[in-house]
Amino acid sequence: MDFREIKEADAKNYMTVFSRQNLCFTHGKGSKLYDTAGNEYIDMGAGIAVNCLGHDDPELTAAICEQAHKLIHVSNLYYNIPQAQLCEKLLDGTIFDRMFLCNSGAEANEAAIKLIRKYFYNRGETRTEIITAKNSFHGRTLATVTATGQEKYSKPYAPLPSGFTHVPYNDFGALKEAVNDKTAALILEVIQGESGVLPADYDYIVNAYALCRSRGILFVVDEVQTGMGRTGKMFAFEHYGIQPDIITLAKGLGGGVPIGALLARGEAAGAFAPGDHGSTFGGNPLACAAACVVVDRLKNGLLREVEQKGEYLLSKLSKLRKFNFINDIRGKGLLVGVSLGDKLTNTEIVGKMATNGVLLITAGHNTLRLAPAYTISYEEIDIACDKLMDLFARTNV
Ligand SMILES: Cc1ncc(COP(=O)(O)O)c(C=O)c1O
Repeated sequence: MDFREIKEADAKNYMTVFSRQNLCFTHGKGSKLYDTAGNEYIDMGAGIAVNCLGHDDPELTAAICEQAHKLIHVSNLYYNIPQAQLCEKLLDGTIFDRMFLCNSGAEANEAAIKLIRKYFYNRGETRTEIITAKNSFHGRTLATVTATGQEKYSKPYAPLPSGFTHVPYNDFGALKEAVNDKTAALILEVIQGESGVLPADYDYIVNAYALCRSRGILFVVDEVQTGMGRTGKMFAFEHYGIQPDIITLAKGLGGGVPIGALLARGEAAGAFAPGDHGSTFGGNPLACAAACVVVDRLKNGLLREVEQKGEYLLSKLSKLRKFNFINDIRGKGLLVGVSLGDKLTNTEIVGKMATNGVLLITAGHNTLRLAPAYTISYEEIDIACDKLMDLFARTNV
């Protein structure tokens, strides 16, 4: 199929849920992607913070191929070797006691919601209410769009599951007011990724955590975008010195192979009984073999690279502050947002940058999001940032 035929087939066959860019990639290597016309791009989006080892990473590809030759799938009716290995590797050195594996971020959050409710059910407490933040993003299933603090994602799908309240982000007073005897859990992203790479204030998280502790409320961090090293620590909550009861992971965990995870500690880790939850594909050998490579690499020096490259990327991007149409540049590790003033639109800049051979992604609040592979080279960071600088220098607004 040539690109025209691909677009025609997509327009005819695929449900109209995406506004796709006029691009189709055939292959990639590291942080480079190649389109159907043979053009080369620097990939600063990494599949929306997914391909953390870049494209065609030799170790990841070898592990996937090797596992595919052995077993792609066996059901969870049986034990499987890569699943057991992944759980050992991932939990080792963390505060968490047990985990559950699924296939995506939404599924991990869905599982977290069920775990929260089951925890209080087991205790005989009628606490069912879950507080999340406005502008948060937690996924596309019915419960997770309801948890998501953005009405545009949930409005058409009423009736929605009950028991969710949204409070303004970074507003401890509002949170304190929202908490009551029915509050079961607080679910937060410590950096709101989808809505514009908005980091939580240190004091907000520390105070919210202390409040949850004092009221017996479960503290849950959605690390789907920020986890697995994205911010320079294995999990972004570590920047805040807190110990969440539950976290959720997906995106980077499999380096591109679909996998999600729910990690819990203490009594919450033991709240599910056999039959309470499950997933046909969750924790399958192929996905777990891929995730083992990601965890190993992070623990063997890659985390430190994310921290260093993140500082470098942020310092390069900070030079854009001289343009009066840049509102803010923020982020941690290799998750950075460049917030634009209202004279420019992020979609327009993403389009122009793609024409210049650099792939960026958008986020809320008119933000450009950069979330490259952890293996990106300093030279590639330089080229991408210089091209953005050139484009802004030529932009007259
Ligand atoms: C913080 C957060 N939670 C959950 C999700 C949903 O993940 P998925 O698309 O894998 O279901 C996302 C996706 O962007 C996310 O950023």
